[in-house]
Amino acid sequence: MAKVKKLPRSIFQRILGIPATKPPRDPASFSYSAGKLTVDLSRAAELDVPGGALRCEGGGLPVRVLVVRDDKGGFKAYRNRCTHIGRRRLDPVPGEGTVQCCSVNSTTFGMDGKTICGPGKHPLTLYPVTKEGGKLIIDLHNA
Ligand code: FES
Repeated sequence: MAKVKKLPRSIFQRILGIPATKPPRDPASFSYSAGKLTVDLSRAAELDVPGGALRCEGGGLPVRVLVVRDDKGGFKAYRNRCTHIGRRRLDPVPGEGTVQCCSVNSTTFGMDGKTICGPGKHPLTLYPVTKEGGKLIIDLHNA
């Protein structure tokens, strides 16, 4: 198997589970209502570039969601919770086509959510994403 690239994070960040993806610069970049998470792309500068990610938490959301712009310009939405016991947050690894746990063990998943390596053996939960004009609509009904 090809070597998996780790995001450059300090051991302290890994031990404390501090993800590289910071909270949104614009708290109004997303909203939640009736099972749907809506991301306003005009306010979510984090998603302007491939490999970018938006952390959606709070605001009534039933789960933490990480929205990632993949290396081909498409969008994916993951439950932002590693499937390993620590349940830490995730980060995209730009240019690698992977999503990685921020913890010391760094379980790494493909963009399809399947485990590539690490102790988180179960796949990530992905939510359906629809692009409508300048907005992403993410269906969390099964969250
Ligand atoms: S919590 Fe993700 S590898 Fe342990």
